[in-house]
Amino acid sequence: MVRLDVFLPNPEATDALASCVARTQTAPAVIWLKGDLGAGKSAFSRAYLRSLGVAGAIKSPTYTLVELYDLPEGKQAAHLDLYRLAGPDDLEFLGLPERQALHLVLIEWPEQGAQALGDADLQITFAMEGDGRTARLYAKNSSAAQWLSRIAEAIAKVPLRVASA
Ligand SMILES: Nc1ncnc2c1ncn2[C@@H]1O[C@H](COP(=O)(O)OP(=O)(O)OP(=O)(O)O)[C@@H](O)[C@H]1O
Ligand SMILES: [Mg+2]
Repeated sequence: MVRLDVFLPNPEATDALASCVARTQTAPAVIWLKGDLGAGKSAFSRAYLRSLGVAGAIKSPTYTLVELYDLPEGKQAAHLDLYRLAGPDDLEFLGLPERQALHLVLIEWPEQGAQALGDADLQITFAMEGDGRTARLYAKNSSAAQWLSRIAEAIAKVPLRVASA
C-alpha cells in the first residue's frame, strides 16, 4: 500500500492515528509532516511520542527547531520543526545525534530543508476538513509500504475512518 487517507473528525482521532502509526513501527523511521499552520502536525507528534513511552513534558520545537527524547530500551527520538530554519546549512548546528541512534525522526515543515537529513520513509499531509482534518499518508519506499498496510490494519480496529484508498 502506498497511500492511505484518513478522516480525523476531532483531536482524539489525530491521537488515535498517531497511536496506530507508532504501534506498527518496527524499524527506525523518518516521518515528514506537512500541512498548514495549525493543521495538527505537533498534535500528531505529541501523541506519537506518548505512544512510544515518552512520559515527561513534550515541548513544541517551534523555536528550538529540535527536541530530543529518550525512549525505552535506550533509543532516542527527534522532533523537528524547520519552519524557522534559515537554510539547510543550519541543520548541522542543531546537534542531532547520529542517524543510527535515532529510532524516530518526526519533521514538521520538511519543505524547509529536510532533504539534507535524508529521505523520508513516510510522509503525512494534514489538511483542514470542516471542523476536522484529513491525513494523507504516503509510503516513500517498499518497507514503508508494508508499514502502511500494518497501519491500515490497526486503523480498522479503532474508530477511525479511511477516507479513500
Ligand atoms: N482532527 C482534528 N480535528 C480538529 N482539531 C484538531 C484535530 N487534530 C488536531 N486538532 C487541533 O488543531 C490544532 C493543531 O495544532 P498543532 O500545533 O498541532 O498544528 P501544527 O500543524 O503543528 O502547526 P504549526 O505549523 O504552527 O506547527 C490543535 O489545537 C489541535 O487540538
Ligand atoms: Mg507544529
